Amino acid sequence: AAAPAPAGEVASPAPAGDVADRAAAGFRQRYGAPAAGRWAAPGRVNLIGEHTDYNDGFVLPFALPLRTVVAAAPDDGDRWTVWSELTGDQVGFGADEVAAPGRVPGWAAYVAGVVWALREAGHRVPGARLAVASDVPLGSGLSSSAALEAAVLAALVDLGGLDLPAEGRPRLAQRAENAYVGAPTGIMDQSAAIRCRAGHALFLDCRTEAVEHIPFDLAAAGLAVLVIDSRAPHRHADGEYASRRAACEKAAGLLGVPALRDVAAADLDDALARLDDDETRRRVRHVVTEDQRVLDAVALLRAGRVRDIGPLLTASHASMRDDFEITVPEVDTAVEAALAAGAYGARMTGGGFGGCVLALVDADRADAVADAVTTRYAERGFRAPGFHLATPAPGAHRL
Ligand code: ADP
Ligand code: GAL
Repeated sequence: AAAPAPAGEVASPAPAGDVADRAAAGFRQRYGAPAAGRWAAPGRVNLIGEHTDYNDGFVLPFALPLRTVVAAAPDDGDRWTVWSELTGDQVGFGADEVAAPGRVPGWAAYVAGVVWALREAGHRVPGARLAVASDVPLGSGLSSSAALEAAVLAALVDLGGLDLPAEGRPRLAQRAENAYVGAPTGIMDQSAAIRCRAGHALFLDCRTEAVEHIPFDLAAAGLAVLVIDSRAPHRHADGEYASRRAACEKAAGLLGVPALRDVAAADLDDALARLDDDETRRRVRHVVTEDQRVLDAVALLRAGRVRDIGPLLTASHASMRDDFEITVPEVDTAVEAALAAGAYGARMTGGGFGGCVLALVDADRADAVADAVTTRYAERGFRAPGFHLATPAPGAHRL
C-alpha cells in the first residue's frame, strides 16, 4: 500500500513503475515464471456529482496516479489463481465457484466476480494466474475495488483475445461488484477506472454512458487538488448507502419519473411541493441540485475557469451534509479547515460516512492547507489525516 504520508506533509503518489515492478516480482516469486504482461487501473476521486450515478445523472470523476497493477499469464483450463501483495494470501478457484455469485468470499470475490460476469456475458474466459500490487489505499473511498476489477478485466480480455471494447467494460465490472460481491453501487467508479484520460476529468452521463473528456489542467492554472483522507472509520456505510438509494428510487416513483435525473432544476420547487415528507424532499433536493452543479462545473472547465468551480464544490459539500446527510464530523472538519486556510472550494468525495475530502488550492498553498487540516484534527482529537496530491491520470491500460 502507499505509505501513509506523515501528518501535515503532502505526499506525492509513489513513483510510477514501483507498483508495476512489485506486481511482476510477486508474480515471478509465486508462480516461478515471468508474467505474460501487466495491466494497470487507477483509483479515482470524483470532482463533483455525488450520489447522482444511480439516479441516472451526471458525474465528473478523474483518475489518480495511485493505481493497481495486475501481472498475469494464462493457465490451463478453467482455473484462476490470484495473489495480492496487500493481503499476502493466494486464492484459487475453478468453474464451480464462478458458476453463480457469492461462492468466493473476501477480497478475491472482486476477481471471481469479473470472471463470473465475463462468462455470464458469453465470453470464453481463459484460465489465469494473477499477482496484484496496489498503491490505492483500501477502503478510503478512492475506489480500490473498481481499480482491482478494471485491472483484472483488462488482463483477462487481453489474455483471452476477448471482443469487449472499453465502452462495454464498466457495466460488466459493475455487475461483478453488484451481483457477485453484493455491493449496490452505481456506474461511476468502474467508468472512471476504465475510461478516464490523463489531463482530463470524465464527464459521464450515467443514463446513456456517453462521455466527454474535459481538459483539467491544474498546473497551467497554478492550482492543485489536495486529497485529504479523513481516516474516519466507516460507520454503517453500506446500509446508509442502500437506504439513500432506496429513498431516491421511491421519490422518483412518487414524482412519476423514471429517475431523479428527470427532474429539471427549474422544476425542483414544483417537485418538492408534491412530496409530503421533509426527509424525502431534502434527498431529492440534493440529487437535483447536484446534477445541476456538475453541469455548471463542466461549463466553467470548458471555459478554462478552473478556480471558479470552487464555490460549486463547497455547495456540493453543504448539500451532502444538510440534505443528503452522508457526512461525518471528520470530513466536515477537513472541509472547514481547508476553506479557512484559503482553499477555493472543498467537498467530501465518494459514497460518504468517511473516506476522502478534496480541496482546490493554489499549488503553492497545498502544504499550508494540509498543515491547517492536521492542526484542526489534533485540536478535535481525531486520528491524523493523510494527504495525496491528485493530477488526472489515465484509465486502465496494458503496460
Ligand atoms: P474502496 O473501493 O473505496 O477502496 P471498498 O470497501 O469498496 O473501498 O473496497 C475495498 C475492498 O476491495 C478491500 O477490502 C478488498 O476486499 C478489495 N481490494 C481492493 N484492492 C485490493 C488489492 N489490491 N488486494 C486485495 N484486495 C483488494
Ligand atoms: C460510491 C459508489 C458510486 C457512487 C458514489 C456516490 O461509493 O461506488 O457508484 O454512487 O458512492 O457518488
